[in-house]
Parts: sequence; C-alpha cells; structure tokens
Amino acid sequence: MADGLAVEEDSNLRYSYESPRFKVLVTGGAGYIGSTLVPMLLSEGYAVVIYDLFRWGMQPLLNSNLDTRHLEIINGDILDDITLESVVKSSNAVIHLAGIVSAPAFNRYPEIAKEVNERGTKILVDSLKPDQPIIFASVENVYGRSALNLKGPCTEDEECDPLSPFAATFVESEKLVLKSNGVVLRIPSAFGISPRMRLDLLVNNLVFQACTKGHIDLYQADFKRNFIHVQDLAKCHLFTLNNIDKMRGKAYNVGHESLGYSKRQICEIIKDQLPNIRISEPKDEAYKDADNRNFETSFERIKDVGFTVTKSIHDGVTELLKIVPHLSEAEIKKCQAL
Ligand SMILES: NC(=O)c1ccc[n+]([C@@H]2O[C@H](COP(=O)([O-])OP(=O)(O)OC[C@H]3O[C@@H](n4cnc5c(N)ncnc54)[C@H](O)[C@@H]3O)[C@@H](O)[C@H]2O)c1
Repeated sequence: MADGLAVEEDSNLRYSYESPRFKVLVTGGAGYIGSTLVPMLLSEGYAVVIYDLFRWGMQPLLNSNLDTRHLEIINGDILDDITLESVVKSSNAVIHLAGIVSAPAFNRYPEIAKEVNERGTKILVDSLKPDQPIIFASVENVYGRSALNLKGPCTEDEECDPLSPFAATFVESEKLVLKSNGVVLRIPSAFGISPRMRLDLLVNNLVFQACTKGHIDLYQADFKRNFIHVQDLAKCHLFTLNNIDKMRGKAYNVGHESLGYSKRQICEIIKDQLPNIRISEPKDEAYKDADNRNFETSFERIKDVGFTVTKSIHDGVTELLKIVPHLSEAEIKKCQAL
C-alpha cells in the first residue's frame, strides 16, 4: 500500500473489512498499460476505479481475470469535467493513462487529440483535493531536440524540447502534474503481451511483421533507444504509488540501461528465433519516427528510489512469438487500431 499515506492513524487509507480500501482512480484503465496494471493494483489490496471510454471495448477487462469485489467501472470521457471531478474527489490517488497515445493516432485528428491530452490532464489536476497524489504516464519523446544533441545519457534535467505536436501535449501535461506535486513517469516504448494488445509498438510490430510476412521493413535501423516490458511498466506505476511520498514532485525516466537497443539489434534477436525471415531497409521514410528518437537514457534517478526491471527484450520476443502467430484477422485489426 502507499507507504507514507497508509500509516496515518485515522485516515481512510488503511483497509480491512471494516474500513474502506485506498481507492485509486485509473484513467485509461482498459488500455495496454491499464489492463495489465489494474489486476496488480487489486491484488495488492487497492480498490480501483477505471475511468475509460473503452475505445478498444471491454474485452481487455474480460481477459484480465479481475477480482471485481473492489473494482468500479465508469464509462466516461476525460473531457467530461463534471463527472470526472466527482470521481477524482471520491478517490485517494490518481493514475493518469487516458489519452491519444501515439504520434500517428495524434496526427489523424490533431485538434481533438490535443484537447484530450492537454485539457484532459488539466481537468484532472484541477479536480485534485489538496495533496492528493497523481501519477502521470508521460513519454520519453518530451526531450526531442535536447536528447538528439547530447553526448551522454539523457537525464531528467535536460530541457523538454519536443519535435512532434504529439510530444508537445505531454510537455504541457507534465507541467500541470509537477505543479500539483505529482509524479511524471517518462516512458519509453513498451513491448509484450497485455489483455489490450498493441501491435503498433516497435518491438511488437517487428515481431508481427516477421510472423505474418516472413519479412521486416526496417526504418532508421541504427537509431537506438530504450524499451520496457509492459509488466515492468505496470509494476513501475504500482511501485510509484507504494513510494509516493519519496517520489512526489519529480519526473523519472522509466526503464533500465540494459534495455537500450537499436532497431537492427532487435531484428537480430527476432532472427535468432526465426532464422528464415528477411530484413530490408526501404529508402523512403514511410515509417520514420516523428520524434527521431535516437538517444541513451539515464535511469539513475529511478534506480535511486529502488525501481528496477525484470524482463529483457529476449523475454518479450519469446513471449510475443508464442501468441502473435495465432491472432485472427479480427484480433489483428483491433490490435493495430490507433
Ligand atoms: N504503451 C507504451 O509504450 C507507452 C509508452 C510511453 C507512454 N505511454 C503513455 O501511457 C498512456 C497509456 O498508454 P497505453 O499504451 O495503455 O494506450 P492505450 O491506447 O492502450 O490506452 C489508452 C486508454 O485511454 C482511453 N481513452 C482514450 N481517450 C479517452 C478519453 N477521452 N476519455 C477516457 N478514456 C480515454 C482508451 O479507451 C484506452 O483504454 C498514454 O498516455 C501513453 O502515451 C505509453
């Protein structure tokens, strides 16, 4: 349970049959990260409110083997300020995952996406009770130009200088969250299986191409950046909640330096297990990363508070290769939706 918060004598933060559990609002709780995180929170003893408009349906929650006794589900839009405010007020802490979550998705409807990502966070932050903790899932893309010009690993003290309008919305949200003494988690690309599956994420997508076409189109092959397994990422949110007092008011790069790879290196790991796949490097820039991520990250700050990862890229590729070849056309379509 949330350390410093749970010890207060007469608060409602401790739980038992008599007293209410510590209630965590998870916006976007039915998404890729959320559908892995929510079962962890429930089994750790938290009560959970999922607030989501279920863009990907309810299936992720059906797949999650949830203990529903301490779960509440609200089908709502993050932009519905009246409903959201009352849900925030009746919770003890907030984990904010809802949003438009990739540059291609953002670019499809940029105005709505900006509204969801920026005003959604503002409504949440404005609804917080004094001293109510909030944890925000941000993106490593916020560093933009600052990271590209660096000689060494990128620390949290580097200026945020985003390249894409998508990443810029996270910079704005981060400012609001940090001003409210919340925690910002700057997250690299996740990989691995989750009840709501995403095949647009780099590692997942490379495995998907290899399985379905026997061939990978590799763009920006030697660009190197960091990755994290979705279960470690969910654990990081749980860890942050459990250590909220010592982590508040700061941004953290999430991950571990052992998970820094070029795209070419990831393809080699896949090729170790699927030796017959072909890899080509198209000259056009059809799938160029909008944020040109190609940098090393420092994880000293998150290590100092005690977080580390448990799963490697190799673990993720092995796991993906067991599942991805068996996805149906309909399932693939859903997992590719942005
Ligand atoms: N998955 C990653 O690799 C990764 C990496 C860095 C940062 N993040 C950030 O973590 C957060 C969650 O990402 P994810 O991978 O779980 O994405 P996801 O798309 O799987 O989940 C997002 C959830 O938000 C919900 N949502 C969208 N718009 C909403 C709205 N207006 N109101 C209420 N709910 C809404 C969707 O229905 C979905 O369930 C995002 O902010 C994303 O940018 C993710």
